[in-house]
Order: sequence, then C-alpha cells, then structure tokens
Amino acid sequence: MGNNSLFLHLLLALLLGHVKPDPDPLQDYCVADNKPKGSFFTNGKPCIDPNLASPSHFCTSVLSKPGNTKGNVFGFNVTLTNTVNLPGLNTLGLTLARVDLSENGIVPPHSHPRASEVTICLKGSILVGFVDTSNRLFSQKLLPGDSFVFPKALIHFLYNPDLNSPALALSGLSSQNPGLQLVALASFTSKPSIPDQILAKAFQITGQDVSRIRKNLGG
Ligand SMILES: *[C@@H]1O[C@H](CO)[C@@H](O)[C@H](O)[C@H]1NC(C)=O
Repeated sequence: MGNNSLFLHLLLALLLGHVKPDPDPLQDYCVADNKPKGSFFTNGKPCIDPNLASPSHFCTSVLSKPGNTKGNVFGFNVTLTNTVNLPGLNTLGLTLARVDLSENGIVPPHSHPRASEVTICLKGSILVGFVDTSNRLFSQKLLPGDSFVFPKALIHFLYNPDLNSPALALSGLSSQNPGLQLVALASFTSKPSIPDQILAKAFQITGQDVSRIRKNLGG
C-alpha cells in the first residue's frame, strides 16, 4: 500500500468510526525487545530482530500458579500476561488474565479503558456483572464452564459468594495493555487526593465518611 492510499484508508477508517482496540501488526510478529538500546517512545514495545525470535518468546507459565489473595482487603489476585513475561504478544492486541478469588472475595467495580473482556469460570461460582452507560446492570452467576463478556470500558465486577471455597476464572482481553481503574481506589486513594468536599458531594456522604473510607482502603 502506498503512503497516499494508506493515509486515505486511515482517514476513511476514522470517518467511518472503525476504531480498533489495538493497531493491527504490520508483520507476523514483533517479539518485544525489553532492553532496547537508548530510550525512545513507541506505541507498544519495539521488536527484536525477527531472526532471533524463538518458540519460548511465545510461551509463558506465569498463569500456572495461583495468585495470593491475602494481599488486599478485597480478596482477589489477578495475574496477567504482558510483553515482559510473554514478549511474543507484543502488537497482537491480546492479554490473558488469571483471576483468583478467595472465599467471599471480590474484584470490586472497575473498568479497562482499552479492552473488552471475555471471562470463563473454571472453579467455584462467580457472580459477575457490568453496568452500561444508561445505568442498567447485566449480572449472571457463573458456574465452571460458563463464560461472560464485559464490553470495552464498562464498569464491571466479579464476586465469589461462596464463604467456604475459593473461585478461579480466566479472562481474555482485547488489548496487550488493557489498563485497569478500580472505582473505589480511583475515587478515594488517588495521589494526590481528590479533595474531601468533592467526594462528600459526589457520594452524598460526610467528611468523616470520606476519611473513614480512605482509611479502610489504605489511602
Ligand atoms: C498476587 O500473588 C502473587 C503471587 O503469590 C504475589 O507475589 C503478589 O504480591 C500478589 N498481589 C497482591 C496484590 O496481593
């Protein structure tokens, strides 16, 4: 494709609103170079010489071990593939996530600004849901083998209602860098903080409530 027709193609794609989650790769693969010489900024990671690519660049065991769910108040641990532990996924627009939930654990309401997500429950039961932009909740209880999709950027949660056994889910995300914003943490533990009076008005609570919530969330 010549430069001109590429430009026209891009312009047309923009006009028609064909916005892709991640740009398509222009070659078979672009194994991430995690130690590039010098510092420069690219959209994604630069690639190693394709002749140096090996099968191990396309393989990882990072999802084989359960995450420790005791490390946070919510009782979840998410392990992600990324361009460091799986350099072959650079530019492919994919992430795989292992979601471990403790007994009664929750991945609290959050959003991925750059990715849709499809999740499959592998162990236990998981109550999942997302809220659309008209504030409607779509929620389901998943059992092992059941899958659910969360549309891009919409706020969603995963909850293990079982008080006695942990739960496990696996998620695919449509970006190599989906991004994550937890609603509670973004609101109450940002650095620097959102001023108390703003949170008090936004959530219709008192200044004392704001302090208590900040403290509970470790902010
Ligand atoms: C998730 O689990 C891993 C592996 O046990 C651990 O190193 C990490 O600190 C845990 N993360 C959190 C937020 O608890």
